[in-house]
Amino acid sequence: MYDIKKVRADFPMLNGKTMQGKPLVFLDNASTTFKPYSVIKAIDEYYFEKNSNSHRGDYDLCYDMDVEIQKTRETIANFINSEPNEVVFTSGDTEALNLVAYGYALEYLKPGDKILISEVEHASNVLPWYRIAKLTGAEVCFVDIVDRRVTVDSINKAFKENKNIKLVALAHVGNVLGYMINAKEIASICHKNGALLVLDGAQSVPHMPVNFKELDADFLTFSAHKMCGPTGIGCLIGKYELLQKMATFHTGGGMNVKFNKSGEVIPLDAPAKFEAGTLNLSAIMGFRAAVNYLTELGMDNIHKHDEELFKYAISKLEGHDDIVVYNKDSNSGIIAFNIKGVFAQDEATLLNSKGIAVRSGQHCAKMIDNTIGDIATVRMSTYLYTSKEEIDIFVENLINGGDILDAYFN
Ligand code: ALA
Repeated sequence: MYDIKKVRADFPMLNGKTMQGKPLVFLDNASTTFKPYSVIKAIDEYYFEKNSNSHRGDYDLCYDMDVEIQKTRETIANFINSEPNEVVFTSGDTEALNLVAYGYALEYLKPGDKILISEVEHASNVLPWYRIAKLTGAEVCFVDIVDRRVTVDSINKAFKENKNIKLVALAHVGNVLGYMINAKEIASICHKNGALLVLDGAQSVPHMPVNFKELDADFLTFSAHKMCGPTGIGCLIGKYELLQKMATFHTGGGMNVKFNKSGEVIPLDAPAKFEAGTLNLSAIMGFRAAVNYLTELGMDNIHKHDEELFKYAISKLEGHDDIVVYNKDSNSGIIAFNIKGVFAQDEATLLNSKGIAVRSGQHCAKMIDNTIGDIATVRMSTYLYTSKEEIDIFVENLINGGDILDAYFN
């Protein structure tokens, strides 16, 4: 049984913290998540007990660090069902997407080729492709959005209408509306049409079981800080033969076998060839602790918990016609909404005055207004430690929150 009290006791941020003098209700988990004691302890352990560099010394401390890195790679590989050598450490989801853009797309795309994305992507899955299009002469095109989401039919249509799509880059779960795409089917369509699929897993990997081999995506990206891990660390998971084919992105120490005065550089094999410079070692230790924490709770249980809270919140909002929800049939812990006649940021400010943290605006997805039909939304997002009592406080404050001016003049 999922024991929410026990789970909450694992998080120092849930131990009586207040905001605006009210008990903190943190509902911005699509942005970032709290860390349990075990993750904080693992980060500390690096500084208290293991402080050394990796790959660079012939002494025990340094060797121990190499072992820690390999253990983390193996833990992530088990969690996501990839091979350990398919796990590349990056600073997060954004760097992982940029790594595919500069390491793969810049190397292999040419004028006339197309990169297919959607209007609902967040900036990190748009801007690298715009840049690559500029550098290679390739073109970025957009899949149709049907019922506010990317569908298998719209992907098929995009391939029919566009010759030369070589790369498709999509969020597995959208960061504003929380809709999940049928990644397995889309990967198969991509492969039939000679394209690769880059799956942005920032909002899926933390919340549900994701099986890299089964989905058959070519690349999968995610950040640790959205899954109870530290900031500044994340992953690119890539099929090994593609990683080997890719050009390096950052170059420098730790990623090469040798180089000489003629400018020849022989990189190491993947994943090391992408990991130049000293890695974020404390974060790598924390990342492993986070994955272990999630695994212990069970990804199915975590997903079920999000779904239950979503249904509970939606049912409590039923009948309040001044609250417009944009994703009632979503399958995640994200609710995007507006109060009629109230600007999203004003509503978020009012909720802040009640101790409730939500995000407002476009949530980095700056082309989504067309899909939603509004320029900004308020977004609440749950995670494995969110309680029903917190949903009650949130809903109560939406319905009987008082005048918006209270937030400014109280
Ligand atoms: N992509 C993150 C969010 O949705 C930053 O808030």
